[in-house]
Amino acid sequence: PDRYAVFGHPIGHSKSPRIHGLFARQTGQDLEYSALDVPAEDFDGALDGFLRQGGQGLNCTIPLKELAWRRADRCSERARRAKAVNTLKREADGSLSGDNTDGVGLVRDLCGNLGLDLAGKRVLLLGAGGASRGILQPLLAERPHSLVIANRTVDKGEQLAGEFTELGAVSACGFADLAGRRFDIILNATAASLQGDLPPLPEDILAPGGACYDLAYGTSPTAFVLWGRAHGAAVSADGLGMLVEQAAEAFFIWRGVRPDTAPVIRLLSEERG
Ligand code: ATR
Repeated sequence: PDRYAVFGHPIGHSKSPRIHGLFARQTGQDLEYSALDVPAEDFDGALDGFLRQGGQGLNCTIPLKELAWRRADRCSERARRAKAVNTLKREADGSLSGDNTDGVGLVRDLCGNLGLDLAGKRVLLLGAGGASRGILQPLLAERPHSLVIANRTVDKGEQLAGEFTELGAVSACGFADLAGRRFDIILNATAASLQGDLPPLPEDILAPGGACYDLAYGTSPTAFVLWGRAHGAAVSADGLGMLVEQAAEAFFIWRGVRPDTAPVIRLLSEERG
């Protein structure tokens, strides 16, 4: 079988081998997919070793996406803008193509699976780190009315917004500047979420019938998903669907076959209870 893998650090709880295994079975593709714990300082060596052993494609997760972007011989526009690659493909001539499927994965989950329409909506993005950068182009391509990046370190948000202004109505502010504002969709891309922490949000910031989405996911609802439920969100979801959708896009890049994501999302949701 062709060989694929995900590199990251830590990698122990990665669901990617399970997801790609389910995709392979569903589509009748003969491949194996493993997870390897690779700290940043070992990335180049681990990638070389993987390619020597015939590896055809690689997913990279925290903290390796920027290193993977640097190693790619060419990149999709969305990966270039993200300055991060989560999917490497070995081409017939041995060169490496890089892509970033996180943003399209998020949009497919929001719009396809959850039935939200971003067009004309006021969108708030919490956080201005790598997770936010990775999704901005696909989000802006949905033509929201506005996209505000709120970040603890305001400079960082402003710099990030500045890199994407030609793609849409994107701006930045600090959390204190959110007072009195309303948004239809709030996306949480802060690392705080993983520690069960929340950025300080005004109580009335979510418009009636609005939606909350946490890019992170866990075995139980994240702090932000709970915040959304407590503040009247019509939809308050975590990033499990995005995880499966970004994997499906990678699978398509590698194999030219698009798996059906719905049964995989259903199965993984059931498994975590
Ligand atoms: P990632 O690649 O996961 O986005 P990152 O680049 O370290 O990780 O960015 C983490 C994001 O979470 C940043 O926006 C960070 O805010 P700062 O830029 O001000 O550091 C945000 N973040 C982390 N902990 C936070 C907290 N306790 N409250 C609010 N924001 C937090």
